[in-house]
Amino acid sequence: MKLAGRVAVGVVVLCAVLFAGFLARGGEDAKPLPGTSLREAAKARGMEIGTAVRGEVLKRDLAYRQTIEAQFSTVTPENEMKWYALEPERGEYTFDAADAIVEQAREAKQKVRGHTLVWHAQLPDWVGSLSADELRQATREHIRTVMAKYKDDVGVWDVVNEPIADDGGLRQSVFMRRLGEGYIADAFRTARTADPDAKLYLNEIGAEGINAKSNRLYEIVRGLKAGGVPIDGVGFQAHFNLDGMPADFVANMQRFKALGLDIAITEADVGLKVPPDAAKLASQARIYEQIVAGCRAVDCRSLTFWGFTDGRSWISETQAGMGAATLLDEALKPKPAFGAVQRALAG
Ligand code: XIL
Repeated sequence: MKLAGRVAVGVVVLCAVLFAGFLARGGEDAKPLPGTSLREAAKARGMEIGTAVRGEVLKRDLAYRQTIEAQFSTVTPENEMKWYALEPERGEYTFDAADAIVEQAREAKQKVRGHTLVWHAQLPDWVGSLSADELRQATREHIRTVMAKYKDDVGVWDVVNEPIADDGGLRQSVFMRRLGEGYIADAFRTARTADPDAKLYLNEIGAEGINAKSNRLYEIVRGLKAGGVPIDGVGFQAHFNLDGMPADFVANMQRFKALGLDIAITEADVGLKVPPDAAKLASQARIYEQIVAGCRAVDCRSLTFWGFTDGRSWISETQAGMGAATLLDEALKPKPAFGAVQRALAG
């Protein structure tokens, strides 16, 4: 082969090797975000700051992973610890995807919020066809198996998620229909036995202000406490949009705290009608600031965002015309909301 030919082959081989290395690392490095990291700022306040994470993306997107490591002290698997993901067939568990997130969190010295044990959505089909006795049994087994498996790694669990309907009635989930309201207490009792060290939360959506749903939630939680049922905290999801948050957000959380419960904000985001513009992003930043301020006002344990980049957010994926709901844009560049959260943590 002529010299030129050899050089050409060499160049091609070198490029292939470099490209393979690039893919193996998972792409480009993250650009460092300006200012104090959210995790440092939150630490100074004695609180945890977190995000929902996606296992698949964590594996192949270096910048995504580096941003999570740098900015957050706790992570919540966005889907990987839901019932359909962990126990797709009765008694047959698939832990790999959740394990990968837990492993990554351990390396990054982050805590893990377990989400979620008993929820009406993202259930495997087989759960729906059980009799009452079988369902009670299967639910207990699911809680025991999953909590035992993650005993060393998951310190906080959303034991029951979204048990109330918007009108303030109990949500007519398969658990409610087959087992009645007692399924909630049963789940918490089972969870306490499965891992006595874990903090056990009831997590709810749309209960941020004082309304029919949060009133019912309050009655239920007060009843659980009065009956000696082991519940440690209440999680408020805090999925907002530019209509803003209810004026009685803090007052509402305070009444739950007064029952002797820990408070966490568990899934915060602020969706807007796309495309975003400067005015919308400024309003969004103000709402994010109020979320942090509200959390601090009730001395919350943790504040978790439901994703941190507009490129990976359930809002744009599930709500037509809505999006741009997170702190960073699709290129992981900070939006006004990021600075607002930094300031609200520091102030
Ligand atoms: C969402 C996830 O973000 C989506 O990826 C999935 O398709 C559906 O569930 N309340 C919850 C979360 O408790 O588990 C939901 O997460 C959002 C609403």
